Amino acid sequence: MDIRVLTPADIPHVQSTNITNLPENYFLKYYLYHALSWPQLSYVAVDVSRPKKSPYEPPRIVGYVLAKMEEEPINNIQHGHITSLSVMRTHRRLGLAEKLMRQSQRAMVETYGAHYVSLHVRMSNVAALRLYKDTLGFDVEKVEAKYYADGEDAYSMKMDLEFIKDQLEETYGVDEGDAVGEEGKKDGARKEGDKKGKKRKVKLGRGLGVGDLVEKNESKG
Ligand SMILES: CC(C)(COP(=O)(O)OP(=O)(O)OC[C@H]1O[C@@H](n2cnc3c(N)ncnc32)[C@H](O)[C@@H]1OP(=O)(O)O)[C@@H](O)C(=O)NCCC(=O)NCCS
Repeated sequence: MDIRVLTPADIPHVQSTNITNLPENYFLKYYLYHALSWPQLSYVAVDVSRPKKSPYEPPRIVGYVLAKMEEEPINNIQHGHITSLSVMRTHRRLGLAEKLMRQSQRAMVETYGAHYVSLHVRMSNVAALRLYKDTLGFDVEKVEAKYYADGEDAYSMKMDLEFIKDQLEETYGVDEGDAVGEEGKKDGARKEGDKKGKKRKVKLGRGLGVGDLVEKNESKG
């Protein structure tokens, strides 16, 4: 099984997986909007157990997570949102949904500095609720009455992602980059720059002798 980032070419296959598994379906352009706006956040699970019969055979997509960043976050707190998640019946209880979710959550933190992730789920969806609550650690934030088209209520759920930031910092250290603008002119920031050595002039181009490499017209010599 291959879990990889969703590409625009996967979209028709993801759409058909979605239609098979869920009553909430979307236009192709909505998938494309996700893939082009937040290309790091949506993933697919592809069954690669059998060799392709031809190079034109489409990928056997058996699961996907479609995710985005909240476009107008309250109080400007960056957070992700799971738009849709499903796995084909034939491939359930293999841990695919969990993996897809974790990949997306990590990318939300790594790429966009997300503080938390939110989603909606039908109150009757036992499998998804177990996955979100018990396996991943989401909490119910509130109930949204008649959220679904058929009148069913939804749990609005939320999961804190600060622990992923901590894990990343532990592994890779903090990389904020050097301060720029007014902040960069402050003493502290300048001292930080000094540690790396004072600015010095270096010769470029002709100064380094590039002039000698210019092609000469030998016939005139
Ligand atoms: C919900 C869904 C995505 C889970 O996919 P999955 O790949 O089978 O889930 P995983 O194998 O990663 O399961 C992880 C955990 O979730 C829980 N879980 C998953 N399916 C479950 C089920 N049918 N009943 C109870 N718990 C379940 C279990 O705790 C499971 O861990 P375990 O297998 O070690 O017990 C899948 O059932 C599905 O596509 N359902 C239809 C679409 C849907 O409801 N999507 C969610 C919309 S909000």
